[in-house]
Amino acid sequence: MKNAFSIASALALTLVLFSGNLGAQTAPAPAPETAAAGPAVQAAPADAGTGAIKSQNIFEVKPDASQEPGYATQTNGERVRVQPGNNAPMWRQVGSGVAGYSSLPKSEAPEAGVLIQPYVQYPGSRLTNAGEAWRQTRNQWIIPYGGALVLIVLGAIGIFYWRVGTIKLHEKPTGRKLERFTPFERSAHWANAIAFSILAISGLVMAFGKFFLLPLMGTTLFGWLTYVLKNAHNFAGPVFAVSLLIVIITFVRDNLPAKGDLDWLLKGGGMLGGEEVKSGRFNGGEKVVFWGGVFLLGLIVVGSGLVMDKLIPGLGYERSTMQLAHMVHSVSNILMVVMFMGHIYLGTLGTEGAYQGMKTGYVDETWAKEHHALWLEDIKSGKIPAQRSPTPVPGQTVQV
Ligand code: HEM
Repeated sequence: MKNAFSIASALALTLVLFSGNLGAQTAPAPAPETAAAGPAVQAAPADAGTGAIKSQNIFEVKPDASQEPGYATQTNGERVRVQPGNNAPMWRQVGSGVAGYSSLPKSEAPEAGVLIQPYVQYPGSRLTNAGEAWRQTRNQWIIPYGGALVLIVLGAIGIFYWRVGTIKLHEKPTGRKLERFTPFERSAHWANAIAFSILAISGLVMAFGKFFLLPLMGTTLFGWLTYVLKNAHNFAGPVFAVSLLIVIITFVRDNLPAKGDLDWLLKGGGMLGGEEVKSGRFNGGEKVVFWGGVFLLGLIVVGSGLVMDKLIPGLGYERSTMQLAHMVHSVSNILMVVMFMGHIYLGTLGTEGAYQGMKTGYVDETWAKEHHALWLEDIKSGKIPAQRSPTPVPGQTVQV
């Protein structure tokens, strides 16, 4: 509600600003100086012949003093007399970051009195403000390059499936089952995967939907869709955060680096060349996804998301904080989405029997032999029990 109110106030102020500028552009050229008009005021530049006043950036201080229309030296009182409706001095103060009065508590909204971020000019660059710099970074870098990366990875996975297809088992299943994931591990994984899917779909629609859904759906339907998805995103975020921590704690032990992981990675698992490189419970590729995607990107995505949800106590939620959090969140999310597109492909269409393991908790001995031979050896030698949870799932005969 508060958000809606701030948006409405910002819109109202924007309208005031625009109407002020429009007034300035359409107002007749100022009268020549008279004693009553006060100090000398240089006329705003007019288009030769048409008499129309050129629009100009009221925040910009012209380097050439002869072109400077003198706005900077005018007070609001003078401006009201010589150019009624044009309150550029006030807006110049706004642009310089002067804080006005706001009844919102400083602890909740530290910048509420500052209407827009101050304009700054870095050496060699244009006069700009941080809000505009952020907007351009989002629209000209993150959205096009991020979108291209998602499409390229999607295309690569499609081509891989088309050329290589599902990696099938070479030998017949034995019927002997091993417990690969306990009910607890599966619950943690699926809670996290479902929350991730909601976040990924809603996030992608919010970022890219206007390019492919808006033209199909129209503004009303697309507006409602993004409204629903934005709320779904905000609710799924904390579920993802908690389940991510549980997934990290649950799977960290079997993802610790081990001998043979590097060999697995250097040979791309050997999956394409027939014989797969031997690995423990998780292979080198899974460990890269765990440490890079689940641990590193997961924590960055969650951390920056919690900042944007204003859920980290004691943090000053200024515009710059939100802009930085947004950029970190978007970039890390795009990387996480492409990484998990690969994970989801290999866990479903890409590898025969892998999805069964995460769905039922059990895999066939042949699957274990062909994909995680060292894990099977550990089970056969008695180092790891074939059934770790207290009772086997009915219908699964655990036997080694
Ligand atoms: C959304 C669809 C997803 C599907 C279909 C899926 C599928 C699978 C499958 C089949 C496995 C078992 C692989 C094996 O037996 O070696 C697995 C393992 C795993 N998944 Fe997922 N997954 C999904 C999403 C996620 C997400 C969002 C995360 C975490 C952010 C995640 C984290 C893991 C972890 C940690 C493992 C254990 C293997 C390892 O440590 O790399 N999964 N997944």
